[in-house]
Amino acid sequence: MTKSVLLIALITIPLLISTSNGDARTQVVKMYCDQGFENNETLFVPNFVQAMETITIQLRTSNNGTVEVGTGPDKNYALAQCYNDLSSQDCMLCYAQLRTVLPGCYPHSGGRIYLDGCYMRLQNYSFFDQYKGPNDTIVCGNVTRESLGFRDAARQAVGNVVSMALSNDEYFGRAEVVVAGGGGNKSVFVMAECWRTLSPRDCRLCLENASAMISKCLPWSEGRALNTGCVMRYSNTDFLNPVAAAITTSKSRGKVVAIIVSIVSSVVVLAVALMIVIYIRRRRYVQWRRRGSYDAEKLAKILTDSSLNFKYSTIEKATANWDESNKLGEGGFGTVYKGVLSDGREIAVKRLYVNNKFRAADFYNEVNIISSVEHKNLVRLLGCSCSGPESILVYEYLPNLSLDRFIFDETKGRTLNWEKRFEIIIGTAEGLVYLHENTKTRIIHRDIKASNILLDLKLRAKIADFGLARSFQDDKTHISTAIAGTLGYMAPEYLAHGQLTEKADVYSFGVLLLEIVSGTENNRSNTIEYTDSIVSTAWKHFQEGTVDQIFDPNLLMDIYPNTLLKEEAIKVIHVGLLCAQEDPSLRPTMSTVLKMLAKDDQTLPFPSTPPFIDEKTMELNNITQKLLPDNEGESSHSVATVCHSQFYPR
Ligand SMILES: *[C@@H]1O[C@H](CO)[C@@H](O)[C@H](O)[C@H]1NC(C)=O
Ligand SMILES: *[C@@H]1O[C@H](CO)[C@@H](O)[C@H](O)[C@H]1NC(C)=O
Ligand SMILES: *[C@@H]1O[C@H](CO)[C@@H](O)[C@H](O)[C@H]1NC(C)=O
Ligand SMILES: *[C@@H]1O[C@H](CO)[C@@H](O)[C@H](O)[C@H]1NC(C)=O
Ligand SMILES: *[C@@H]1O[C@H](CO)[C@@H](O)[C@H](O)[C@H]1NC(C)=O
Ligand SMILES: *[C@@H]1O[C@H](CO)[C@@H](O)[C@H](O)[C@H]1NC(C)=O
Ligand SMILES: *[C@@H]1O[C@H](CO)[C@@H](O)[C@H](O)[C@H]1NC(C)=O
Repeated sequence: MTKSVLLIALITIPLLISTSNGDARTQVVKMYCDQGFENNETLFVPNFVQAMETITIQLRTSNNGTVEVGTGPDKNYALAQCYNDLSSQDCMLCYAQLRTVLPGCYPHSGGRIYLDGCYMRLQNYSFFDQYKGPNDTIVCGNVTRESLGFRDAARQAVGNVVSMALSNDEYFGRAEVVVAGGGGNKSVFVMAECWRTLSPRDCRLCLENASAMISKCLPWSEGRALNTGCVMRYSNTDFLNPVAAAITTSKSRGKVVAIIVSIVSSVVVLAVALMIVIYIRRRRYVQWRRRGSYDAEKLAKILTDSSLNFKYSTIEKATANWDESNKLGEGGFGTVYKGVLSDGREIAVKRLYVNNKFRAADFYNEVNIISSVEHKNLVRLLGCSCSGPESILVYEYLPNLSLDRFIFDETKGRTLNWEKRFEIIIGTAEGLVYLHENTKTRIIHRDIKASNILLDLKLRAKIADFGLARSFQDDKTHISTAIAGTLGYMAPEYLAHGQLTEKADVYSFGVLLLEIVSGTENNRSNTIEYTDSIVSTAWKHFQEGTVDQIFDPNLLMDIYPNTLLKEEAIKVIHVGLLCAQEDPSLRPTMSTVLKMLAKDDQTLPFPSTPPFIDEKTMELNNITQKLLPDNEGESSHSVATVCHSQFYPR
């Protein structure tokens, strides 16, 4: 009894090992993005994330998955399939890569991507029964020319593979045909697979087309057919995972072991088993080293001995499976959840919407850099789940949440008296000075705003989300989110020309100062006119010497009885206006700002005009559309342009 149990264990252990260390073939062969765009970001993005998520779960138990999420023009249909020679674990690895790269199509409404080991397509319409289309193509390797014998062998192998694929439920065929006249040690390797959602007839039509097309790659040593409904590949090297071979060798190993079992005691068997396991692991490791590692493998290695890495399952558990009650809010980059680790530590978990273009290893590198940036006024990045099915950042948890929840709230606003607010202002300025001037990595935040200033238990400021913009610089999602959500904070030269320096942060900081003193949010809604912006209001009152009229009513009790405090508040508005000047070269640097704020003996220059003034009816949408192409050649540096906005033509 115990012997047979052990025997089974022996046979299955090598099998498990052999299936877990194959090649996931995560190399991207081709990606297409649709021409059309998603219709409504707020509907599309959650559908997209949900579709990716559902397929992750399906692929844990199957090598294919399909899903439909949502309704209307932003409904998402997705199909993913790993080629049948991939083990379940390699399938997850391959899919992780798909998931990382395909979002590069966003904000287009869909796309498809072919990796060497798996495929995915996502659209806003049902495509599951399509098998051909205008983008069907072949990709030929053009390095080595092969012999006539190779061509014949390849044609034969392709034929074999098609009939094999059509005769099984997996729609999968593989073949190796020895090249005649090659001395017996040269072969052609071919695989083909249809998507499981096709009818047998459509699979046949797709493969017949693929066979005809792929033969155009001959006599090159490599060819791939990438069709709407199927894929095919031939090569002069064996790229397939040895599924069948692994089973045979394990079985024969089992037989050998069976003889041993009948002779020696089960204890000895156990020792042998261990040795076999160690031997196989070693050999696999050596093979793995030799083959040269691809991204996922390299990363897996880094991650196993990195304290920055959080296992996906750990995070899932900490947030009670992304329970709605743990949701803290939505940010520019993703949804934030509260989590509690098994040791009781509280964390904030940011589940990123998409991680465009950034492969897991790059993402990890960024996290590595950002996590080394430490300052008392910066939220600490603890690490990431970089290689899991989604990209996740783990931060220290701050119980009081963000500044906007206080200053823009009549009731909670009272919690923050002037002294506290001034402390927050100084802290934020210190954090920014550190980001701009630290020698290790100069970081421009790009998204300074009240909701990115978090408060700790003692209501001290901590800047969140720094460094992210750096990683996401080419990420269209972020830019569009920023324009939509944070326009009021964006420096005009950044908005108009994408011209980015530290002075863009200084501008945003100026807006933030005005908000903190006035308790008024800049450009709360998308339709608000710039004339109503807190910057132009403050400017008007400043010129007329009536700034005290814009003080947050919650502060009046504090400020009025005390002339010193009142002067301090006026100074903050003055500095805010200096920061928000239209010409970036006139704005002070953050360290000058800090000096102006912290020291009483500084004489401040008179601010020049902020942007957006005098624009009576200019609305946000007009601006973003009109402005970008028109202003290419214009100089934004002349002080003479101070009077008003050349950025925003009428
Ligand atoms: C084919 O590819 C092009 C370019 O990526 C894309 O614009 C187009 O929508 C694709 N067509 C189909 C039917 O997928
Ligand atoms: C997008 O959808 C949301 C939710 O239905 C809706 O509130 C919003 O107005 C829509 N936006 C646009 C631009 O249609
Ligand atoms: C994979 O495809 C087969 C055949 O269409 C289907 O029966 C199965 O449900 C699919 N698996 C998943 C997880 O969708
Ligand atoms: C898919 O999105 C495109 C581009 O936004 C849109 O034109 C089309 O109507 C949508 N398709 C469906 C079925 O809603
Ligand atoms: C092979 O293709 C690549 C890219 O398409 C090209 O740069 C290279 O010159 C080609 N080599 C040959 C031998 O045709
Ligand atoms: C067979 O392979 C060996 C080593 O891989 C090589 O040395 C030999 O030349 C090959 N034989 C022929 C006929 O190509
Ligand atoms: C294969 O399909 C493509 C796209 O539908 C078509 O352009 C091509 O002519 C077909 N080739 C053959 C040999 O049938």
